[in-house]
Amino acid sequence: MRSASRLDGIGLSLIRQINALATPLSVNLGIGEPNLRPDETFRAMARRAAEAPWQYSANAGFLSLRKKLAEKTPFDPAAEVCVTAGVQEALFAIFQAWVDPGDEVLIPDPGFLSYATMAKIVGAKTIPYDLEPPSWTIDVAALEKKITKKTKVIIVNSPSNPLGAVIDEPALRAIAAMADAHECLVVFDEIYREIWYDAPPPSMMGMSPNVIVANGMSKSHGMTGLRLGWLMARADLMKPIISAHQYLATCASVFSQTLTELIFTAEDWNASWLMRVREQFTRQREAALAAIERDLGARIEPPAGAFYAFAPVPSCDTVTFTKTLATDAAVLIIPGVAFGKNGEGFVRISFAANLDQIGTGIERVGRWLAGAGR
Ligand SMILES: Cc1ncc(COP(=O)(O)O)c(C=O)c1O
Repeated sequence: MRSASRLDGIGLSLIRQINALATPLSVNLGIGEPNLRPDETFRAMARRAAEAPWQYSANAGFLSLRKKLAEKTPFDPAAEVCVTAGVQEALFAIFQAWVDPGDEVLIPDPGFLSYATMAKIVGAKTIPYDLEPPSWTIDVAALEKKITKKTKVIIVNSPSNPLGAVIDEPALRAIAAMADAHECLVVFDEIYREIWYDAPPPSMMGMSPNVIVANGMSKSHGMTGLRLGWLMARADLMKPIISAHQYLATCASVFSQTLTELIFTAEDWNASWLMRVREQFTRQREAALAAIERDLGARIEPPAGAFYAFAPVPSCDTVTFTKTLATDAAVLIIPGVAFGKNGEGFVRISFAANLDQIGTGIERVGRWLAGAGR
Protein backbone atom coordinates (compact mmCIF):
# COMPACT_ATOMS: atom_id res chain seq x y z
CA MET A 1 0.00 0.00 0.00
CA ARG A 2 1.17 3.51 -0.74
CA SER A 3 1.72 5.96 2.11
CA ALA A 4 0.35 9.49 1.88
CA SER A 5 2.11 11.53 -0.78
CA ARG A 6 2.78 14.34 1.66
CA LEU A 7 5.49 12.15 3.14
CA ASP A 8 7.14 11.35 -0.20
CA GLY A 9 10.88 11.75 0.08
CA ILE A 10 10.73 12.22 3.83
CA GLY A 11 12.77 9.51 5.46
CA LEU A 12 15.22 9.14 8.26
CA SER A 13 17.18 12.40 8.59
CA LEU A 14 20.94 12.30 8.04
CA ILE A 15 21.35 12.94 11.76
CA ARG A 16 19.31 9.86 12.61
CA GLN A 17 21.05 7.83 9.89
CA ILE A 18 24.45 8.64 11.34
CA ASN A 19 23.34 8.08 14.90
CA ALA A 20 21.98 4.69 13.83
CA LEU A 21 25.59 3.67 13.05
CA ALA A 22 26.61 4.11 16.70
CA THR A 23 28.08 1.17 18.58
CA PRO A 24 28.82 0.96 22.32
CA LEU A 25 32.39 2.05 21.50
CA SER A 26 31.38 5.13 19.51
CA VAL A 27 32.16 8.62 20.68
CA ASN A 28 28.96 10.48 19.98
CA LEU A 29 29.50 14.10 18.97
CA GLY A 30 26.48 13.87 16.69
CA ILE A 31 23.52 14.29 18.90
CA GLY A 32 21.75 17.55 19.76
CA GLU A 33 21.12 16.53 23.30
CA PRO A 34 22.70 18.22 26.32
CA ASN A 35 24.83 16.05 28.62
CA LEU A 36 23.27 17.41 31.80
CA ARG A 37 22.60 15.39 34.93
CA PRO A 38 19.82 16.46 37.26
CA ASP A 39 21.00 17.22 40.78
CA GLU A 40 19.19 16.01 43.92
CA THR A 41 16.88 19.07 44.04
CA PHE A 42 15.91 18.50 40.41
CA ARG A 43 15.21 14.81 41.10
CA ALA A 44 13.15 15.70 44.18
CA MET A 45 11.05 18.06 42.04
CA ALA A 46 10.49 15.22 39.55
CA ARG A 47 9.35 12.94 42.38
CA ARG A 48 6.93 15.64 43.55
CA ALA A 49 5.64 16.14 40.01
CA ALA A 50 4.93 12.41 39.78
CA GLU A 51 2.68 12.71 42.84
CA ALA A 52 0.39 15.24 41.13
CA PRO A 53 -2.80 14.06 39.31
CA TRP A 54 -2.26 12.47 35.90
CA GLN A 55 -5.45 13.62 34.15
CA TYR A 56 -5.52 15.78 31.01
CA SER A 57 -4.86 19.47 31.47
CA ALA A 58 -6.45 22.25 29.44
CA ASN A 59 -5.30 21.95 25.81
CA ALA A 60 -3.05 24.99 26.15
CA GLY A 61 -1.59 23.67 29.41
CA PHE A 62 -2.13 24.41 33.10
CA LEU A 63 -3.03 28.06 33.52
CA SER A 64 -0.72 28.21 36.54
CA LEU A 65 2.20 27.13 34.32
CA ARG A 66 1.22 29.53 31.55
CA LYS A 67 1.18 32.33 34.13
CA LYS A 68 4.65 31.37 35.28
CA LEU A 69 5.97 31.26 31.71
CA ALA A 70 4.39 34.60 30.84
CA GLU A 71 5.89 36.45 33.83
CA LYS A 72 8.13 39.28 32.59
CA THR A 73 6.74 38.91 29.05
CA PRO A 74 4.14 41.03 27.26
CA PHE A 75 1.87 37.98 26.78
CA ASP A 76 -1.50 37.19 28.37
CA PRO A 77 -1.26 33.70 29.90
CA ALA A 78 -4.96 33.02 29.29
CA ALA A 79 -4.94 33.56 25.53
CA GLU A 80 -1.39 34.01 24.31
CA VAL A 81 0.57 31.04 25.66
CA CYS A 82 0.34 27.39 24.65
CA VAL A 83 2.33 24.61 26.34
CA THR A 84 3.33 21.92 23.84
CA ALA A 85 4.98 18.51 23.59
CA GLY A 86 8.35 20.11 22.85
CA VAL A 87 9.23 22.77 20.30
CA GLN A 88 8.98 20.16 17.55
CA GLU A 89 5.23 19.74 18.13
CA ALA A 90 4.88 23.49 18.61
CA LEU A 91 6.39 24.15 15.18
CA PHE A 92 4.22 21.46 13.60
CA ALA A 93 1.12 23.08 15.14
CA ILE A 94 2.15 26.48 13.74
CA PHE A 95 2.56 24.99 10.26
CA GLN A 96 -0.83 23.26 10.51
CA ALA A 97 -2.48 26.43 11.73
CA TRP A 98 -0.94 29.02 9.45
CA VAL A 99 0.67 27.56 6.34
CA ASP A 100 -1.31 26.55 3.25
CA PRO A 101 -0.13 24.55 0.22
CA GLY A 102 1.74 26.93 -2.09
CA ASP A 103 2.71 29.36 0.68
CA GLU A 104 6.38 30.22 0.95
CA VAL A 105 8.38 29.71 4.12
CA LEU A 106 11.80 31.33 4.51
CA ILE A 107 14.22 29.09 6.35
CA PRO A 108 17.85 29.54 7.39
CA ASP A 109 20.54 27.72 5.39
CA PRO A 110 22.27 26.13 7.23
CA GLY A 111 19.42 25.54 9.65
CA PHE A 112 17.58 23.00 11.79
CA LEU A 113 16.38 20.46 9.27
CA SER A 114 12.87 20.02 10.68
CA TYR A 115 11.85 23.44 9.36
CA ALA A 116 12.07 22.36 5.72
CA THR A 117 10.49 18.99 6.38
CA MET A 118 7.51 20.45 8.22
CA ALA A 119 6.98 23.02 5.47
CA LYS A 120 7.06 20.25 2.89
CA ILE A 121 4.49 18.18 4.79
CA VAL A 122 1.96 21.00 4.56
CA GLY A 123 2.74 21.52 0.87
CA ALA A 124 4.55 24.82 1.30
CA LYS A 125 7.59 25.91 -0.66
CA THR A 126 10.77 26.45 1.33
CA ILE A 127 12.93 29.38 0.35
CA PRO A 128 16.33 29.14 2.03
CA TYR A 129 18.07 32.33 3.08
CA ASP A 130 21.83 32.30 3.32
CA LEU A 131 23.90 32.36 6.45
CA GLU A 132 27.52 32.72 5.54
CA PRO A 133 30.84 31.87 7.16
CA PRO A 134 32.86 32.75 9.10
CA SER A 135 30.39 34.46 11.48
CA TRP A 136 27.20 33.10 9.90
CA THR A 137 25.39 36.44 10.15
CA ILE A 138 22.11 37.21 8.38
CA ASP A 139 22.27 39.58 5.43
CA VAL A 140 18.99 41.34 6.25
CA ALA A 141 18.71 43.12 2.89
CA ALA A 142 19.23 39.83 1.02
CA LEU A 143 16.59 38.21 3.23
CA GLU A 144 14.08 40.95 2.45
CA LYS A 145 14.61 40.42 -1.29
CA LYS A 146 13.37 36.85 -0.85
CA ILE A 147 10.00 37.98 0.51
CA THR A 148 7.14 37.72 -2.00
CA LYS A 149 3.37 38.02 -1.76
CA LYS A 150 3.30 34.30 -1.03
CA THR A 151 5.65 34.50 1.96
CA LYS A 152 3.76 33.39 5.03
CA VAL A 153 6.45 32.65 7.60
CA ILE A 154 10.07 33.60 8.20
CA ILE A 155 11.80 31.17 10.54
CA VAL A 156 14.55 32.68 12.67
CA ASN A 157 16.66 30.59 15.01
CA SER A 158 19.07 32.15 17.49
CA PRO A 159 21.25 30.77 19.00
CA SER A 160 21.44 28.51 15.99
CA ASN A 161 21.48 24.81 15.51
CA PRO A 162 23.81 23.87 13.77
CA LEU A 163 25.96 27.02 13.86
CA GLY A 164 26.00 28.21 17.47
CA ALA A 165 25.70 31.71 15.99
CA VAL A 166 23.65 34.41 17.70
CA ILE A 167 21.80 37.06 15.69
CA ASP A 168 22.35 40.59 16.96
CA GLU A 169 19.53 42.86 18.07
CA PRO A 170 19.60 45.29 15.11
CA ALA A 171 19.19 42.38 12.69
CA LEU A 172 16.32 40.95 14.74
CA ARG A 173 14.62 44.36 14.81
CA ALA A 174 15.03 44.68 11.06
CA ILE A 175 13.42 41.27 10.53
CA ALA A 176 10.53 42.21 12.83
CA ALA A 177 9.97 45.41 10.86
CA MET A 178 10.07 43.38 7.65
CA ALA A 179 7.35 41.06 8.96
CA ASP A 180 5.18 44.08 9.75
CA ALA A 181 5.77 45.74 6.39
CA HIS A 182 5.14 42.57 4.36
CA GLU A 183 2.42 41.16 6.64
CA CYS A 184 4.03 37.82 7.28
CA LEU A 185 4.75 35.90 10.44
CA VAL A 186 8.07 35.33 12.12
CA VAL A 187 8.64 32.16 14.09
CA PHE A 188 11.48 32.88 16.49
CA ASP A 189 12.93 29.60 17.74
CA GLU A 190 14.95 30.42 20.84
CA ILE A 191 15.25 26.92 22.26
CA TYR A 192 18.98 27.53 22.97
CA ARG A 193 18.35 30.90 24.64
CA GLU A 194 19.75 29.86 28.03
CA ILE A 195 22.91 28.33 26.58
CA TRP A 196 25.22 31.26 25.94
CA TYR A 197 28.83 32.16 26.60
CA ASP A 198 29.80 35.82 26.78
CA ALA A 199 26.42 37.58 26.78
CA PRO A 200 22.77 36.53 26.79
CA PRO A 201 21.36 36.39 23.27
CA PRO A 202 18.76 38.99 22.30
CA SER A 203 15.19 37.74 21.88
CA MET A 204 12.55 38.82 19.35
CA MET A 205 9.92 38.73 22.06
CA GLY A 206 7.81 41.87 21.86
CA MET A 207 9.58 43.20 18.76
CA SER A 208 6.47 42.85 16.57
CA PRO A 209 2.89 41.60 16.96
CA ASN A 210 3.69 39.19 14.12
CA VAL A 211 6.35 37.28 16.05
CA ILE A 212 5.61 33.85 17.49
CA VAL A 213 8.20 32.84 20.09
CA ALA A 214 9.07 29.16 20.66
CA ASN A 215 11.07 27.80 23.58
CA GLY A 216 11.20 24.74 25.82
CA MET A 217 12.94 22.67 28.46
CA SER A 218 14.86 20.24 26.23
CA LYS A 219 18.17 22.07 26.00
CA SER A 220 18.31 24.27 29.11
CA HIS A 221 17.27 21.50 31.51
CA GLY A 222 18.26 18.34 29.64
CA MET A 223 14.58 17.34 29.46
CA THR A 224 14.61 16.19 25.82
CA GLY A 225 12.63 13.02 26.51
CA LEU A 226 10.05 14.76 28.68
CA ARG A 227 8.70 16.73 25.70
CA LEU A 228 7.92 20.15 27.09
CA GLY A 229 7.89 23.35 25.05
CA TRP A 230 5.75 26.43 24.65
CA LEU A 231 4.68 29.11 22.25
CA MET A 232 3.84 32.74 22.87
CA ALA A 233 2.00 34.92 20.36
CA ARG A 234 -0.82 37.43 20.22
CA ALA A 235 -4.26 35.92 20.84
CA ASP A 236 -5.57 35.80 17.26
CA LEU A 237 -2.39 34.08 16.08
CA MET A 238 -2.54 31.66 18.97
CA LYS A 239 -6.17 30.58 18.59
CA PRO A 240 -5.77 28.31 15.53
CA ILE A 241 -2.43 27.07 16.86
CA ILE A 242 -4.18 25.81 20.00
CA SER A 243 -6.79 24.09 17.78
CA ALA A 244 -4.01 22.33 15.82
CA HIS A 245 -2.20 21.44 19.05
CA GLN A 246 -5.43 20.03 20.48
CA TYR A 247 -5.61 17.47 17.66
CA LEU A 248 -1.89 16.77 17.62
CA ALA A 249 -1.29 16.24 21.31
CA THR A 250 -4.45 17.06 23.35
CA CYS A 251 -2.11 18.55 25.93
CA ALA A 252 1.56 18.32 26.88
CA SER A 253 2.43 15.66 29.47
CA VAL A 254 1.00 16.84 32.79
CA PHE A 255 4.00 15.34 34.59
CA SER A 256 6.35 17.49 32.52
CA GLN A 257 4.11 20.52 32.98
CA THR A 258 4.12 20.16 36.76
CA LEU A 259 7.87 19.61 36.81
CA THR A 260 8.42 22.71 34.69
CA GLU A 261 6.23 24.78 36.98
CA LEU A 262 8.15 23.56 40.03
CA ILE A 263 11.44 24.45 38.31
CA PHE A 264 10.37 27.98 37.47
CA THR A 265 8.90 28.45 40.94
CA ALA A 266 12.25 27.47 42.52
CA GLU A 267 13.80 30.66 41.17
CA ASP A 268 17.07 30.58 43.11
CA TRP A 269 17.70 26.94 42.32
CA ASN A 270 16.88 27.52 38.66
CA ALA A 271 19.24 30.50 38.41
CA SER A 272 22.07 28.45 39.90
CA TRP A 273 21.23 25.46 37.67
CA LEU A 274 21.43 27.64 34.55
CA MET A 275 24.71 29.12 35.75
CA ARG A 276 26.16 25.63 36.23
CA VAL A 277 24.88 24.60 32.80
CA ARG A 278 26.66 27.55 31.21
CA GLU A 279 29.86 26.84 33.15
CA GLN A 280 29.81 23.21 32.01
CA PHE A 281 29.24 24.12 28.38
CA THR A 282 31.94 26.80 28.58
CA ARG A 283 34.48 24.14 29.56
CA GLN A 284 33.24 21.84 26.82
CA ARG A 285 33.33 24.62 24.23
CA GLU A 286 36.94 25.44 25.11
CA ALA A 287 37.93 21.78 24.81
CA ALA A 288 36.17 21.46 21.45
CA LEU A 289 37.70 24.64 20.02
CA ALA A 290 41.19 23.65 21.15
CA ALA A 291 40.83 20.15 19.67
CA ILE A 292 39.40 21.50 16.41
CA GLU A 293 42.37 23.81 16.07
CA ARG A 294 44.91 21.15 17.06
CA ASP A 295 43.50 18.14 15.23
CA LEU A 296 41.53 19.61 12.33
CA GLY A 297 43.79 22.61 11.77
CA ALA A 298 40.77 24.94 11.79
CA ARG A 299 40.33 28.06 13.87
CA ILE A 300 36.62 28.85 13.93
CA GLU A 301 34.75 31.75 15.48
CA PRO A 302 33.72 30.56 18.93
CA PRO A 303 30.00 29.78 18.94
CA ALA A 304 28.19 32.44 20.99
CA GLY A 305 25.42 30.08 22.04
CA ALA A 306 24.14 26.47 21.91
CA PHE A 307 26.62 23.57 21.98
CA TYR A 308 27.69 23.09 18.38
CA ALA A 309 30.88 23.85 16.51
CA PHE A 310 30.46 24.10 12.76
CA ALA A 311 33.91 23.31 11.45
CA PRO A 312 35.29 23.26 7.91
CA VAL A 313 36.83 20.04 6.62
CA PRO A 314 39.05 19.67 3.56
CA SER A 315 37.10 19.14 0.39
CA CYS A 316 35.50 15.71 0.33
CA ASP A 317 32.06 14.15 0.18
CA THR A 318 31.14 14.93 3.79
CA VAL A 319 28.20 12.53 3.88
CA THR A 320 30.37 9.55 2.97
CA PHE A 321 33.13 10.92 5.20
CA THR A 322 30.93 11.14 8.30
CA LYS A 323 29.35 7.73 7.64
CA THR A 324 32.82 6.21 7.27
CA LEU A 325 33.94 7.91 10.46
CA ALA A 326 30.95 6.38 12.24
CA THR A 327 31.63 2.84 11.04
CA ASP A 328 35.45 2.79 10.86
CA ALA A 329 36.62 5.34 13.43
CA ALA A 330 33.73 5.03 15.91
CA VAL A 331 33.05 8.75 16.09
CA LEU A 332 29.78 10.39 15.20
CA ILE A 333 29.62 13.88 13.72
CA ILE A 334 27.07 15.30 11.29
CA PRO A 335 27.82 16.50 7.74
CA GLY A 336 26.98 20.21 7.43
CA VAL A 337 25.02 19.57 4.27
CA ALA A 338 22.36 17.85 6.40
CA PHE A 339 21.38 21.42 7.36
CA GLY A 340 21.26 22.89 3.85
CA LYS A 341 23.50 23.43 0.87
CA ASN A 342 25.52 26.17 2.59
CA GLY A 343 26.69 23.52 5.04
CA GLU A 344 28.68 21.77 2.29
CA GLY A 345 32.33 21.51 3.33
CA PHE A 346 31.52 21.67 7.04
CA VAL A 347 30.71 19.23 9.81
CA ARG A 348 28.65 19.85 12.94
CA ILE A 349 30.44 18.75 16.06
CA SER A 350 28.25 18.69 19.13
CA PHE A 351 30.26 19.38 22.27
CA ALA A 352 27.47 18.16 24.53
CA ALA A 353 29.80 15.40 25.70
CA ASN A 354 32.36 15.00 28.46
CA LEU A 355 35.83 16.46 28.00
CA ASP A 356 37.43 13.06 27.33
CA GLN A 357 34.92 12.23 24.63
CA ILE A 358 35.35 15.64 23.01
CA GLY A 359 39.16 15.23 22.92
CA THR A 360 39.11 11.61 21.76
CA GLY A 361 36.36 12.13 19.19
CA ILE A 362 37.92 15.14 17.51
CA GLU A 363 41.35 13.52 17.58
CA ARG A 364 39.88 10.51 15.72
CA VAL A 365 38.40 12.83 13.08
CA GLY A 366 41.78 14.54 12.70
CA ARG A 367 43.65 11.24 12.38
CA TRP A 368 41.23 10.11 9.71
CA LEU A 369 41.61 13.37 7.82
CA ALA A 370 45.39 13.05 8.02
CA GLY A 371 45.15 9.62 6.48
CA ALA A 372 46.32 7.75 9.57
CA GLY A 373 42.91 6.22 10.13
CA ARG A 374 42.71 4.67 6.71
C1 LIG B 1 16.69 24.66 16.68
C2 LIG B 1 15.84 23.62 17.29
N1 LIG B 1 14.53 23.83 17.41
C3 LIG B 1 13.72 22.92 17.95
C4 LIG B 1 14.20 21.69 18.40
C5 LIG B 1 13.22 20.70 18.98
O1 LIG B 1 13.29 20.66 20.35
P1 LIG B 1 12.26 19.89 21.26
O2 LIG B 1 13.01 18.84 21.98
O3 LIG B 1 11.70 20.93 22.21
O4 LIG B 1 11.18 19.35 20.39
C6 LIG B 1 15.57 21.42 18.31
C7 LIG B 1 16.11 20.12 18.75
O5 LIG B 1 17.20 19.72 18.42
C8 LIG B 1 16.41 22.41 17.74
O6 LIG B 1 17.73 22.20 17.62
